[in-house]
Amino acid sequence: MLKFKSQSKKDIEKSILEDIDEPIVAVSFDKKILYKNNAAKELEILIGKKNFIDLVLFPVELDKIKKNSSVKGLFRKIGKNQFLIDVSLFQDEGVILLIKDITRFSELENQAKKEGILVAVFKYLSQIFHDMKGPIGGIKGSAQLLKEDPEDTELIDDILYETKRLENLITEITTITKPLQLNKRYENIHTLLDEALNIYKKQYPDVEIKRRYDPSLPEIKIDKEQILKVFINLIRNAFEAIEGKGNITIETGISWDKVYSPRGNKVFIRIKDSGKGVPEDMIDKLFIPFVTTKKNGMGVGLSSSFKIVKEHNGILRYIGNSTFEIILPIK
Ligand SMILES: Nc1ncnc2c1ncn2[C@@H]1O[C@H](COP(=O)(O)OP(=O)(O)OP(=O)(O)O)[C@@H](O)[C@H]1O
Ligand SMILES: [Mg+2]
Repeated sequence: MLKFKSQSKKDIEKSILEDIDEPIVAVSFDKKILYKNNAAKELEILIGKKNFIDLVLFPVELDKIKKNSSVKGLFRKIGKNQFLIDVSLFQDEGVILLIKDITRFSELENQAKKEGILVAVFKYLSQIFHDMKGPIGGIKGSAQLLKEDPEDTELIDDILYETKRLENLITEITTITKPLQLNKRYENIHTLLDEALNIYKKQYPDVEIKRRYDPSLPEIKIDKEQILKVFINLIRNAFEAIEGKGNITIETGISWDKVYSPRGNKVFIRIKDSGKGVPEDMIDKLFIPFVTTKKNGMGVGLSSSFKIVKEHNGILRYIGNSTFEIILPIK
């Protein structure tokens, strides 16, 4: 404060600018750097002169700036570093840039994503080990008893039973990673959707179901049992998301998705519910096995459905607005 008292207003303003933690740079329209504060000078050393010049000169060339308006949050990536820049006009001489280095934030975000996946994998492994502990304990116990009384053949049945449980568990785990054997025929997907809906209609009588089926859709070549499983998983998720109250809309049609079906040779099936939608932090993890937000969920519905659809050369994705979309080739 004392220092300020002895300074002129201009000096005070300058020293405030100098000491702001964020880099501030003024650039003239003819691309001359008119001013940089201390943080900007440090940034220049950090990323190198050439990169720094590249970073601060590009906003001057933008159409919007030429048309005399300010822009907030311009994104620029230079090497590993990422920046957001707020650009304000500075009389009619040039622009003032407020630069935010967001590299650390995006690293953190990536890390968080990776950690989310790791947590899911660990959860998956501990679930498997937990499930294996039961049968292994059973086998151990029966074997110990058998040692004491080799005549008790019922114990051998117990051992066989527990071994079978272990075998089933291992089969279940390996199906997640093994390719599927598909038995494809031409099928009517509307019949399959109705079949899946009928399973839950009685259980949830208050849910309104809207069918927006495109009657002109051709039959498509799929493994009926497998695709029925996918419909059941998605429809069950929809019923669970609205907890028995609200509505579910099922729409079908020819997909003209620019990326996945630009020639219109695929069909789409959209399943939408009136629930809250997938929480933001779940979107990246939806299709990872054993990721669930439900008390009694296993978190396998979407991951196994994803696998089935992928084996059909199709797409299963969440398109926002409580809607899951499946795109399947006709042939
Ligand atoms: N229609 C939906 N609306 C909101 N969230 C959903 C919806 N469908 C799935 N989710 C979210 O995705 C998670 C994973 O779904 P997934 O079907 O794989 O597993 P689950 O339903 O939790 O358990 P499982 O299907 O094994 O019984 C759910 O726990 C839920 O958080
Ligand atoms: Mg589910």
